[in-house]
Amino acid sequence: MKSVLPSTIALSRRQLLRGAGSLAVAALAIPVDPRLAFAAVNFIDYPFQLGVASGEPWPDGFVIWTRLAPRPLEPGYGMSSDIIPVDWEVAEDRLFRKVATKGTAMAHPELGHAVHVEVAGLLPGRPYWYRFRCGDHRSMQGRAVTAPAAGAPVSKLRFGIAGCQNYDQGLFTAFDHLAREEVDFIYHHGDYIYEGHSRPFYFSRYLEDTVPSPRRADLPDPVSLDEYRRRYARYKLDTDLQKAHAAAPWIAVWDDHEIVDNWVSDFNWDNTPPDIFHLRRAAAAQAYYEHLPFRRTSLPDGARMQLYRKFSFGDLAEMHVLDTRQYRSDQPCRDGFRAACPDVDNPNLTVLGEAQEQWLFDGLAQGKARFNFLAQQVMLMPCDREPGDANIRNLDSWDPYRVARARLLKHIQGNNIRNAVVLTGDEHQNIVGNVVFDDKDPASAVVASEFVVTSISSGGDGGMERRNAKGMLAENPHIKLINDQRGYGLCEVTQKHLTMDLKVLDQVTLPGGKLSSRAKFAVDPNKPGVQKG
Ligand SMILES: [Fe+2]
Repeated sequence: MKSVLPSTIALSRRQLLRGAGSLAVAALAIPVDPRLAFAAVNFIDYPFQLGVASGEPWPDGFVIWTRLAPRPLEPGYGMSSDIIPVDWEVAEDRLFRKVATKGTAMAHPELGHAVHVEVAGLLPGRPYWYRFRCGDHRSMQGRAVTAPAAGAPVSKLRFGIAGCQNYDQGLFTAFDHLAREEVDFIYHHGDYIYEGHSRPFYFSRYLEDTVPSPRRADLPDPVSLDEYRRRYARYKLDTDLQKAHAAAPWIAVWDDHEIVDNWVSDFNWDNTPPDIFHLRRAAAAQAYYEHLPFRRTSLPDGARMQLYRKFSFGDLAEMHVLDTRQYRSDQPCRDGFRAACPDVDNPNLTVLGEAQEQWLFDGLAQGKARFNFLAQQVMLMPCDREPGDANIRNLDSWDPYRVARARLLKHIQGNNIRNAVVLTGDEHQNIVGNVVFDDKDPASAVVASEFVVTSISSGGDGGMERRNAKGMLAENPHIKLINDQRGYGLCEVTQKHLTMDLKVLDQVTLPGGKLSSRAKFAVDPNKPGVQKG
């Protein structure tokens, strides 16, 4: 086991208890935090109400997560400020007959008693099961899967793509279905929570009208760490979300609503001074870390959080997870859907920032896998949103960063990378198409495929397509499908091709939404662009 604990408390619970029993703790000459709970741990209520999770699949292990919170929505969360030892075990079978590794982790009050264990020493490319125990309580169990060994021949990989789960706008039924898919991992493209005041109504883009919220988070707009924690707790109490976490390891990255709508780097839409906004970002970053199964390398330092990283799945796939929020230049021409201004050609504007861009370029140039995924947030494909003469762009996408986008596409094309597949969220629609080299010429060379995957619940029930979808398709011939229903993507990758199955629900405002396949697409690893599957 690779410990994630500071050396001062990286003792097993058994060692500590043995030491305490013989009054030998001081004699160990190891500074033990006096807040460490030695006595039998008693809880006011069941401490594992927020479920369990795994994430960050590597060939030798993954992260397993839980958080002790017997009263997750109440002040103090039903916990004292003690450090609490939590036992964990990882088994080769779901009945825990063959335990592969186990240990004790410390739940720190500074992290809201969240526990992140970096489990190592496991075999590559196989499922494991894990669970936690604390006091007299045992958590639910979860399933995790290690990545295949580096460079090893891999015949198949299956993963889910999901995100944008607005609690107030719909049920998380899609997560219930995704939990049954037996995937190797789930890529979560962001908007794990939505900040903002919980209101009884919201605006439906499909109906172009205000509609009632089917349920309410019923919490204040979060600004402080405590408020963000309670927003996460409200979401994580949802059992469909818990099932999806327990079913497979997640690879997660934030978009905007983990902090505030359409933020980028130091900028908030309401012009809060950057040094003041920094405080809110730091609170939001900490709460995000606390509630997702991240590695210690993503522990926030103030507002800064390391989220761009790479995952490898043998010789079959590589995935560069990008952070298109933290290092981006402020939206030129303001954000929203509007006509572009001359600033979109400003060569100094960046989406990824210099360091992340160079890291991505190097990774892509050296990539040897069959498929190269760019797992990110906002749409890369150019898209004129309004048919006819008007040229309306989503100014919170890559569209107003024309020079930065051209640099990325030139790099992909210049290195003869023909297997790039972009995975995106943010739009609350399924939008599938080809990333073309010249954003003013839809007939120009195809550089990559892009799957913008719809939301879990944001936008409510929706329908087959919005009023302007047909016009958008005609205006943007490189786009092949637009659909406004809720759901997730199911991606199956083999050495021969990739298939993407876009699963959608007929409703999310009431329980029991029926799942169907809206469309299937294929991608050939030797030819950029999507094909009807
Ligand atoms: Fe969203």
